[in-house]
Amino acid sequence: MARVYQQAFATTLSNVARTDYERITVKPLAGALGAEIGGVNLARLDDKTFAEVHRAFLDHSVIVFREQDITPEQHAALGRRFGALMIHEFVAGLADHPEVMPVVKEPREAFVFGNVWHTDMTFREIPPLGSLLYALEVPEYGGDTMFASTYAAYDALSATTRKLIDGLYAIHSAGQVYGPKGELNEEGFQTGNQATRIHVKKEAEKTMEHPVVRTHPETGRKCVFVNLAFTTGIRGMEPEEADPILRMLCEHSTKPDFTCRVRWQKGTLTFWDNRCTQHYALNDYPGRRRRMHRVTVQDKTRPR
Ligand SMILES: [Fe+2]
Repeated sequence: MARVYQQAFATTLSNVARTDYERITVKPLAGALGAEIGGVNLARLDDKTFAEVHRAFLDHSVIVFREQDITPEQHAALGRRFGALMIHEFVAGLADHPEVMPVVKEPREAFVFGNVWHTDMTFREIPPLGSLLYALEVPEYGGDTMFASTYAAYDALSATTRKLIDGLYAIHSAGQVYGPKGELNEEGFQTGNQATRIHVKKEAEKTMEHPVVRTHPETGRKCVFVNLAFTTGIRGMEPEEADPILRMLCEHSTKPDFTCRVRWQKGTLTFWDNRCTQHYALNDYPGRRRRMHRVTVQDKTRPR
């Protein structure tokens, strides 16, 4: 039987407030991950401030900036300081800035993009380093995004489970979301009237393998790297064997203790480290509009 109370995670949660920043302020949002960064104008980021922002990003995995005012050009330029930008093959970008992807829910729509725990685009050979999501228009309340630390998830696993999953490779595919048989191609969804323009393609069904436990290329820390949206199996296992392990890891990775929650305001920009987190966009604002822009940064190496 599962324990009624969780084991104490206090020794593994590591979202520690540090004070050795000179240019920026850093205020943790929760015990596991997330911090609000102050003292930064993202439209003008000098090298020293950028270096501190980068350090805060590695320390906290999800960093939140308030009251920013940036154009799509500035948004893309900010992303490029962290790496090459990615263009989403299944979601349309802006006509004049294809690397800036609008994520929009109109009041008439019931669908909310990202309304499942996931890590962005793990179906790619080199998944994103991170995503920068910028709020242009948000409901007065609702429409928050939750994030979960997959470092904390790995740290809290028993030694026995770690031994089982270390060295396994998971199979990832975009097919169950963006493929012809995927959820976003179900009858009633593809009316051509969606504000976030999804392109269903056969090529979504191709598969990619990544380690179930990856080591973060910059921090050297281990984290669980499977997610409900895009992980479909484990190499060398039958579905009956792989499914319960994946279900357990996905549920474990998103325990409330490992999460933080970002409440958006117009002008909020949140940058998450896609290598060591999952996120979930809440669908709790029916009848209201939410309009965001996303820029996605590619990592430099394959997960390992
Ligand atoms: Fe996402």
